[in-house]
Amino acid sequence: MQLTITQPDDWHLHLRDDDALAAVVAHSAERFARAIVMPNLQPPVTTTEMAAAYRLRILSALPTNTGFDPLMTLYMTDRLSSEEVIRAKQSGIVKGIKLYPAGATTNSDAGVTDIQKLYPVLETMQSESLPLLIHAEVTDSSVDIFDRERIFIDRYLVELSRTFPELPMVFEHVTTKDAVDFVKENPGRMAATITPQHLMYNRNAMLAGGIRPHYFCLPILKRGSHQQALIEAATSGDPRFFLGTDSAPHPQHAKECGCGCAGCYTANSAIELYAEIFDQAGALNKLEGFSSFFGADFYNLPRNTNTITLEKRSWIVPESYPFGNDRVVPLMAGHELQWQLIS
Ligand code: DOR
Ligand code: ZN
Repeated sequence: MQLTITQPDDWHLHLRDDDALAAVVAHSAERFARAIVMPNLQPPVTTTEMAAAYRLRILSALPTNTGFDPLMTLYMTDRLSSEEVIRAKQSGIVKGIKLYPAGATTNSDAGVTDIQKLYPVLETMQSESLPLLIHAEVTDSSVDIFDRERIFIDRYLVELSRTFPELPMVFEHVTTKDAVDFVKENPGRMAATITPQHLMYNRNAMLAGGIRPHYFCLPILKRGSHQQALIEAATSGDPRFFLGTDSAPHPQHAKECGCGCAGCYTANSAIELYAEIFDQAGALNKLEGFSSFFGADFYNLPRNTNTITLEKRSWIVPESYPFGNDRVVPLMAGHELQWQLIS
């Protein structure tokens, strides 16, 4: 069985820099036409000028003959100015600004400490129609890690979306039924990305029968009832939910150790993973909207016109891939996947 769909885009991707970038970018470019590239480098990408330079490094790391188009983002800090927002918008290469609450995840130390102080900047983003991309987890150490997304909604998102009803916002990598319900009920311009790992797994995969560090990402995998809510949202055909892998490569030794990094590497098999999920849900006919249409529509970009073809023929995901001087272990390493990308 074969499935041909419009070429998809990845609306949430970590490409890193230097050797790591060179090692992973081809995986995304083989599958996706475009990707929203996350700005959490060290130091973070905080200005349009830095984003333009990073974009050139990505383009020069690409294999020849790919038309892959990296869509850049800025990392929001307490010091972001309205002037920088306008520069970003006018550049044409910056498609969003990423809000990481300070300390929420990998390389987020420079993140935002008080969102209310940034309300004048959000006002400018709203009038420029430049999307706000949100890592929606509280970083308060007294809050249980499994509750951090739900509490962020109550503490910040309710007010944010009331104050800026016209600001396009992406609730990134939703992991709970609470998040799905919030997006569905939101009267403003709010959408959400969903990762393959949060659709495929719940926290048992990570914790039952031994700790499996390659399933550890942030926001952390939740219980099965949340996973079900995500599958329903992704396969419902609701255009507010679209593909964002959050593929986040780390060297093998930094995952498999006493204090492992957060992030699942999925760029090597991303669209194949989603095909498997949609197939299992009996919703292959909904894959194209989720993967190839709804994100482009949200970002006000043209839909892609070329196609990719997947075939239902099983293959084994490699144990690891080269990653600079290290290796990166992908999600489902050594396991069988049912769908293969053939062109
Ligand atoms: O698991 C994650 N890894 N979540 C994030 O938000 C960041 C990412 C990374 O950059 O490694
Ligand atoms: Zn991410």
